[in-house]
Amino acid sequence: MSDSTAPTDDVWTVQRILQWTADFLRQKEVESPRLEAELLLAHARKCQRIRLYTDFETPLADDERARMREFVKRRAGREPLAYITGHKEFYGRDFAVGSGVLVPRPETETLIDVSLEHISKDHAVNVCEVGFGSGCIAVTLAKQCSSVSVLATDVARQAMKFATENVASHEVGHQVTLYEGDGFSPLPRETAGRFDGIVSNPPYIREDEMATLSPEVAVHEPREALVSGADGLVLARRLIAEACDWLTEDGWMVLEVDPAQCETVAELFSAAGFAKTAIHQDLSGNDRVVSAERS
Ligand SMILES: C[S@@+](CC[C@H](N)C(=O)[O-])C[C@H]1O[C@@H](n2cnc3c(N)ncnc32)[C@H](O)[C@@H]1O
Repeated sequence: MSDSTAPTDDVWTVQRILQWTADFLRQKEVESPRLEAELLLAHARKCQRIRLYTDFETPLADDERARMREFVKRRAGREPLAYITGHKEFYGRDFAVGSGVLVPRPETETLIDVSLEHISKDHAVNVCEVGFGSGCIAVTLAKQCSSVSVLATDVARQAMKFATENVASHEVGHQVTLYEGDGFSPLPRETAGRFDGIVSNPPYIREDEMATLSPEVAVHEPREALVSGADGLVLARRLIAEACDWLTEDGWMVLEVDPAQCETVAELFSAAGFAKTAIHQDLSGNDRVVSAERS
């Protein structure tokens, strides 16, 4: 469909453009090229994906074709699909995302499940999140449990923009407060020792791992959301060491990390004085989340 490679003399029907885009994305080594071609075209036509099948022979309008050309160009440059569509589903809800914020991952749903096991629906529960990104964790905990209040921090300006939008669209502004800044430091001093729980999906990729990642992640997602020092545990280690200052005496903490880091993180929790630690698997069966309780 680019001016140089795509035929321009005959009619671009839905069927034809899907076929051309899928072939083009396959050449660019995009995973699931046919599915992505359909999602991009549905986005360009502002319709549901299913509609493409009933409109197979329909020619694209000029504006649809212009949008599709732009989207295909971006996806061929390996920009994440979610940045192009502007949305990603997480825990059954839609979240606004875009350049500068991590795309929510399915494995982070395990962090939600484990956190919810610690949260009582019967009384008010104060939770802190470090690294809110799109806000998917803080918003989901608030939506799943009306007894929860979340105070969440992030260093990234773009994270604040998207998370603010998601908190508003999911109508949890009365439960979620966002702070810009490093670690626990932006939290009001009087909240020290008051949190029932701390949750975080911190950056946990090792510096030397960056070269092995797909361009969608390595080139397009924000580095501060991905990398955390030589062993990937710089922020996690700091959060565990500081956690007890912010938790109640029987508080808990839930962290998402890489499968290869779970044992080390469990040991860090024990060394920081947490009594009970447990490692939990994600939906693919990989160790992914470590939980710990103070008593
Ligand atoms: C892996 S992303 C997680 C985003 C989101 N919570 C999610 O699960 O999709 C890590 C987030 O931590 C933020 N971050 C990195 N270093 C931080 C720090 N020192 N203090 C607070 N947030 C930090 C990044 O900006 C990024 O948004």
